[in-house]
This record gives sequence, structure tokens and C-alpha cells, in this order.
Amino acid sequence: MTQYTFPKDFIWGAATASYQIEGAWDEDGKGESIWDRFTHKPYRILNGDNGDIACDHYHHMPEDVALMKDLGLMSYRFSIGWPRILPQGKGQVEPRGLDFYDRLVDELLKAGITPMATLNHWDLPQALQNLGGWPNRDCVGWFTEYARITFEKLGDRVAFWTTHNEPLIVAFPGYAEGNFAPGLASYPQAFQATHHLHLAHGRAVQLYRGMGFEGQIGIVLNLATFKPKMDDPADIAAARRIESLINSLFLDPIFKGEYPADLMDWVGDMAPDIQDDDLQVISQPIDFLGINYYFGQIVSYRPNGLLKLNSEPNLDLGWGITEKGWGICPSQLTALLLHLKEDYGNPPMYVTENGTALGEPVNETGYVNDRGRINFLRAHFIAAHEALQQGADLRGYYVWSLMDNFEWAEGYSLRFGLINVDFNDPNRKRTPKASAAWYRDVIRNNAVSG
Ligand code: FCB
Repeated sequence: MTQYTFPKDFIWGAATASYQIEGAWDEDGKGESIWDRFTHKPYRILNGDNGDIACDHYHHMPEDVALMKDLGLMSYRFSIGWPRILPQGKGQVEPRGLDFYDRLVDELLKAGITPMATLNHWDLPQALQNLGGWPNRDCVGWFTEYARITFEKLGDRVAFWTTHNEPLIVAFPGYAEGNFAPGLASYPQAFQATHHLHLAHGRAVQLYRGMGFEGQIGIVLNLATFKPKMDDPADIAAARRIESLINSLFLDPIFKGEYPADLMDWVGDMAPDIQDDDLQVISQPIDFLGINYYFGQIVSYRPNGLLKLNSEPNLDLGWGITEKGWGICPSQLTALLLHLKEDYGNPPMYVTENGTALGEPVNETGYVNDRGRINFLRAHFIAAHEALQQGADLRGYYVWSLMDNFEWAEGYSLRFGLINVDFNDPNRKRTPKASAAWYRDVIRNNAVSG
């Protein structure tokens, strides 16, 4: 057994998102979000599930913070529901919504847990979608105003801010593939949405700097690695195309002030309208990069879809595929972090999400002996440790997720939590899984053995 010890100030945390856990979807003046609208339509979500109640975190918040404290979490990553604060997306502020996050932040600080708040984890106010949503350039101003109100209320106490969570997923599954809210199917809109998400990010960073807070601000991207299946030009080019769409389309404007030219050529007329100075706003320095890592991909040419490719899960030897169809591939977390070190200037990085759903059985008391999750996390922590050894500036790691929750189009069928939630119980009983006790030890020792 080797003991892998992490740097002294390494931050161990867990993550959630507003729509996935809060419930109380129309309480205390909250407005409708695009996810409320989408999940209330038939056949969008597996088993017709929705987030109306979810984990009912809105009513269980102090109890949830107490569970985090028991876990020994050093930091908690959560998101703020825009329609809770501005029910119509702009204009009238709802003080009860702001107050909820105010109490959450205080409760966390009382428990010695550092808050990391995400402004946009996908629940755009429906009223703004009615005006065109992210493909409308006005959305940049609406987002900035929402950010200002939120910074004013919480900025004195929140140490880490992130603007968007996975803008790729907002833009493509949301506006091009119809899988996620708002459920549209238009690539041109998705590219335009991408640009406006970028610009909204840049403007929010500018605004935050101008307000003089002591905290840090960054963005959370879902990044992966892409290997060509065969050593032939068609597969190599296909792997490059998807890497450009998933990684470079998001990293390059921020870190290099430019969109990836090869991808823009490939999409031709579908490329977004960009105004002078936009890229300057987008590329201003951020304090850290948040990385959501779940899998690596093996890519081959296929004359299918926008990018003409087929992608399969990359699997490390001895590992399989998760319930979500994602390959288990810890080695690629090391590779990804080192790629960011080499090619993007080694920014301060946090793994802001990593975790798995393996369908491990719940016993009659609500306990889950999730050895699979423990093995998964252990291997990924060791992979992150390896990247640290090789010089990657990784500062912390947040497990997805604190508790089982509403997993978007898959509803409640997939359970990513360290804590089991009984969705049949009106009280949504929480039971820490074996992985919660294991993670507590990792945090306490600041080390993992394997
Ligand atoms: C990520 C999302 C997060 C969660 C995990 C499993 O893409 O950011 O909300 O659903 O996947």
C-alpha cells in the first residue's frame, strides 16, 4: 500500500447544483426556470421525473450543512438559482430567494466550510428564454445584472465564484440537440449561445474585479481527452474536431483570446457573430479554472452528425463502463491536467466535479455499501496526485455529488451521491453511504492509500 499525501492547503469538497437538489420550485416567489418548463412536458425526462421537490434541500438546508460538517468537508460547491433571485430574470428582485442563499452561506461559514458559488448551473429563467435565451445578445446584460445583485449580497463572504457550469452543455444539448432545456435543435443558435455565455462570463469577471472583493472568480468547464481509434488521418482529424468543440471552443477564447480556427472553418456559416472587443472581454484573467472530469473518449471517423465521427468510452485496463455509459479512465485525468499545464499556462485548477453512478443497491435501512464509488474515487484521487507530482497546479477536488439528486434527462435513475436520498420518503431521508465515511478519512488524513 502506498500513501499518497496531498499538498498542505489542498481543498477537499463536494458539489451540487440548485435545480438538482433544491425542490421548492415555485415557493417564496421563485420564477419558472427552463428546467421547470422542460421537465413538466411529457417524454423529456426518464420516468417523467422532475425537480419539483428533488432532495427538498430548500427545506433541509441546515441539516444538509450539518451532514457536510460530519463529512469534514472543507468546501462546498453549490449553485444559485437565478429565477429564485429574479423571478422574471430581470427587474424585480425576490428578497426571499436572496435570503435563502444568504442563510446558506452563513450556515456554511459557521460550520467552517468555504463556499464556492456557481452563478449559472443551467436553470435560466423561463421569462428570458421567452425572449430568446442565451442566443440573444441581451442575455449577457441580464446575466451581468443578476451577477451584480448576487455579488452585492454574498460577495463579502463567498471566497470562490464561478460564472458558468459547463457552458458546452448549456449550448449544445440545450440549443442544438434538444436533450436538455430549453430543448431546441439548432446548431447556429448553439454557437451563438456559446459566444454569449463566454461574453457574459467575461463581463461578470470584470464586474467582480471592479467591486473590490477579496475572493476569487473562475469558470467551470467539462473537459476530456480524445484519442484517435486508429493511427490514420481520418480518425486523427475526427479526434481533433471533437477536441476543438469540447475543449478548445471553451478554453481558447478565455486563455488565448481566440476561437479555434479549424472548428470555425468546419462549421462555416454556423459560426457565431462576434463584435469587436468581445474576445478582449472574454479573455481577461481568471483566478482559477474549474474542471469537471468524467471520462476520456476514443474517436473514429464516421460520416455522421455535425462533426462526422463516432466516439466510444476510453477505458483503463481493468475498469468498465458506468451506468451512464461513461468509461472509467482515471489515467486520462492525469493526462488532462498535464495538458492544461503544458498548453494553457498551468492555471490554478480545481477539479470541480468528479464522481460516478454505479447502481449500487440500497439496503432496507437506506445504507449503501458503495465499494465501487470508493474504488472509482480512490483511483481518480491517485491520478490527480500523479498530475500534482508532475507539476500541475491543482488546488482542490470536489466530489460530484454530496447527495443523490435529479440527474437531468435521467431523472432519479442515476445516483451520484456520497449520501443516499430516499426519494419515496416525503421527508427525503438522507443516509451517508460507505463512501462518505471513506471520504471523511481521506479529508482528515489529506491522503489516500492504494
Ligand atoms: C455534469 C453536471 C452535473 C451532474 C454531473 C453528473 O455534467 O455538471 O450537474 O449532472 O454531470
